[in-house]
Amino acid sequence: MPLKLPKIIGHRGCAGYAPENTLEGIHTAADMGIEWVELDVKITKDEIPIIFHDDTLDRTTNGSGNIADKTLEEIRELECGSWYGESFSGLQVPTLEEVIDVLLERNLGLNLEIKPCPGREKETAEVALDLLSTIWDDHDRLLISSFQHVSLETAADIAEDWHRGLLLPEKWPENWEDLVKYLQISTINVNAATVTREQVEDIMDLEKPILAYTVNEPDQARLLQSWGIDGFFSDTPDVLKEGIFVVH
Ligand code: G3P
Ligand code: MG
Repeated sequence: MPLKLPKIIGHRGCAGYAPENTLEGIHTAADMGIEWVELDVKITKDEIPIIFHDDTLDRTTNGSGNIADKTLEEIRELECGSWYGESFSGLQVPTLEEVIDVLLERNLGLNLEIKPCPGREKETAEVALDLLSTIWDDHDRLLISSFQHVSLETAADIAEDWHRGLLLPEKWPENWEDLVKYLQISTINVNAATVTREQVEDIMDLEKPILAYTVNEPDQARLLQSWGIDGFFSDTPDVLKEGIFVVH
């Protein structure tokens, strides 16, 4: 079934207006009329999938240390909003299950980025996809992406027919085209700050949608769109929505 990709995806929920990877951010994106959000998933020490970006707690919670060393119960004692703004104090790190409930309630599509702690590439994909397979039916509005090829390979093994996105960092792996074929990739997601016009043209030869992260300035979006980029991850999706060309 074809992917119904929007032009703009709220990055880490809606990270320009609410703490990243929180239920609050998902509601903020939905309130703006944004159709999809991107969220990062990793697993706790006790293998519960949670929505969190960093490998450590320090930047976005009042705790410290490695996520991989903490149980869900320990992480739930922390709060993850006040680093962003006092009005968000008291927010908890959500589980994947909780965010799916909100996404379904708000009728949002999801780009779930598998963001494993080092060494947990396979398990993180397994746990996240196992849970998703029990509660998510709408596969034209679900994209599983990762920088980690093992995670994508695991996703392909578990759910071959789900859409997968290959995240390309600043320095592309030399075998990126082979990866696209081997992992049966639906979208190629590039770093907006470093991608070149030539690279975009190379991807266009494969005739797959190209998404760029993270774009908050309409001028940058328009330039990338003129090169052939199809969609954008944005912390400020409302700003981008006003500023890009809508091509039907
Ligand atoms: O999936 C796009 C983007 O989220 C990748 O980078 O570090 O923000 O997860 P990062
Ligand atoms: Mg991400």
